[in-house]
Amino acid sequence: MDILAQAKQLEAQGKDIIHMEVGEPDFVTSKPIVDAGIAALKTGKMHYTPALGLPELRQAISAWYQQQYNIDVSPNRIVVTPGASGALLLVMGALLEQDKKVLLADPGYPCNRNFARFVEGKANSVAVNASTNYQLTADHINEHWDDETVMALVASPSNPTGTVLSTQQLTALSKAIQAKNGHLVVDEIYHGLTYDGIETPTILAINQDAFVINSFSKFFGMTGWRLGWLVVPDEYVSVMDRLAQNLFLAAPTISQYAALAAFNNETLAILEQRRQTFQQRRNSLLPALKSIGLDVKAIPQGAFYIYADCSRFLNEQLPDSMALSKYWLHNAGVAVTPGNDFGNHLARQHIRFAYTADETRLLEAVERLSKLKSNI
Ligand SMILES: Cc1ncc(COP(=O)(O)O)c(C=O)c1O
Repeated sequence: MDILAQAKQLEAQGKDIIHMEVGEPDFVTSKPIVDAGIAALKTGKMHYTPALGLPELRQAISAWYQQQYNIDVSPNRIVVTPGASGALLLVMGALLEQDKKVLLADPGYPCNRNFARFVEGKANSVAVNASTNYQLTADHINEHWDDETVMALVASPSNPTGTVLSTQQLTALSKAIQAKNGHLVVDEIYHGLTYDGIETPTILAINQDAFVINSFSKFFGMTGWRLGWLVVPDEYVSVMDRLAQNLFLAAPTISQYAALAAFNNETLAILEQRRQTFQQRRNSLLPALKSIGLDVKAIPQGAFYIYADCSRFLNEQLPDSMALSKYWLHNAGVAVTPGNDFGNHLARQHIRFAYTADETRLLEAVERLSKLKSNI
């Protein structure tokens, strides 16, 4: 947030800033979805929906699981939420109690540990590195699970590393957690945004008792519409209903109607084009970053992030990634996210680059960084 505020200030002074700190697609929402939203407004679709979501949308999401993964997920188990953020809040609210723990990967999505705190639980952030593709494994579960631990939360593809859990890895995780009588929550928000033909299995194909977080924000390009979903085992539907009623009543109605157009062929064709654009950007940015000495230890296979070790750029004047990010912003007009946003483990020597800008701008950013003196 600090970097973003400074970037905005510099822009207001007329400086040209290349934004690689933003975690959302730069494209506007695709036309069929926007049109469906406008139509909903014009036809008075602006009252509350049921707390669990618009029945047609729950049905459409269920059909999406059939179409995309060839699995049956009953619409009754699908809860429509205000973004994945709303889904994370519900899941933490239902599963975590005071002083109970959730296992998380460090680095990982920053808000997770705050959600845990918000519900008076505790986040146990486990340091992960490239040797496990920056993901929690069954071994981590066995090593770090204690009497207070009730759940583990993983993301595939992950933010900030873009790494993906395979069927084999998900199965091993799931078994290890089942053996502890715990809950597995998989954040699948970046599903759909994967490259090189890599598969992103949903945990639901492996374990129907797992909880799944998903969203219309990233692949479907609807960040500002605030719409996501949660899949829960049958016995958790009523608790989610009560929590949703109390916390936010329901997800935004207009957005829910708009999202009905998210799964049609016209929209999916646009989204596929955009996925290819992201892939192309990653393919150019990754070697460019490496060529100036940024070390990327695990190939990002999804999402739109590259998590790079910036040790080569650190020195007495620029001791950590926060100082380096500020230096890059002020001297090259390149905005990135320092690693400490995502946890503590080696955070001071990592930076996240989001490829949510045009390819030419991304390459210009690398060019600008390459021309900077490494000492202030
Ligand atoms: C891993 C992950 N989960 C959840 C979210 C929340 O997304 P939203 O609430 O927009 O659906 C984000 C946003 O960046 C994310 O990266």
